[in-house]
Amino acid sequence: MEIIIQKTAEEGSAVGGRIVAKLVQVKPKAILGLATGSTPVQLYKEMIKWHKEQGLDFSKVTTFNLDEYVGLAADHHASYHRFMNEHLFDELNVPPESIHIPDGLTENLAEHCAAYEQSVQEAGGIDLQVLGIGSDGHLGFNEPTSSFASHTRIKTLDEQTVEDNQRFFKEGEEVPRHVITMGLGSIMEARTCLVLAFGENKADAVAEMVEGAVSSMIPATILQFHRDTRLILDEAAASKLKKADYYKWVYSNKPEWQQY
Ligand code: PGA
Repeated sequence: MEIIIQKTAEEGSAVGGRIVAKLVQVKPKAILGLATGSTPVQLYKEMIKWHKEQGLDFSKVTTFNLDEYVGLAADHHASYHRFMNEHLFDELNVPPESIHIPDGLTENLAEHCAAYEQSVQEAGGIDLQVLGIGSDGHLGFNEPTSSFASHTRIKTLDEQTVEDNQRFFKEGEEVPRHVITMGLGSIMEARTCLVLAFGENKADAVAEMVEGAVSSMIPATILQFHRDTRLILDEAAASKLKKADYYKWVYSNKPEWQQY
């Protein structure tokens, strides 16, 4: 795992933006896995900047989002469809037919999840999967004890996640208890994982993910087995890493051709 510690979330997101841009430059038909939540918002701003200011073309890119709430229509204010449009797709030239997000209103969940997984395979698999990490160590909505081999399916949210995500809903509105999420097995199939974590409330989960024992109690620890995971942190999220100085040393000594 490559650990990239930057002073601020803004600087970290700029590094993430360069990683995405470099991929799309060398592979215009890149398949991107995308995530929602507060964490990737700045990364998406960077991608939009690359598009608008540097002319980076996303017209041949295909995207697959990690998850969606069961029961929310695409135009619901807290749906992940809406989130992605507002934070990325309204400003980027990814053709609508190349955008994939699980359908929270599907009438046949099992069939929909299997078809979603199949469409990732048919597209050629994900080149780069953007991920945040939950304060409970989840990836996507793969809550603690999720199977390491899981594929897209319905999950019930942990109470902690419901609490964490309440801020995206209006007062008195309930966070749905169920979600469709790509599995940990699906995430492990991505060729590169780009994980972002910012802020002190992620420090414990980050320390477990990088330096803790691999356990489905902290789903993100599975990435210790992933061949190419790049983890971008700000100082606060890195504050509980025992070997933070080593990670900084490695990053500052990267050969030029390997730099982002
Ligand atoms: P956040 O969520 O970016 O809103 O903190 C991350 C996650 O739950 O994966």
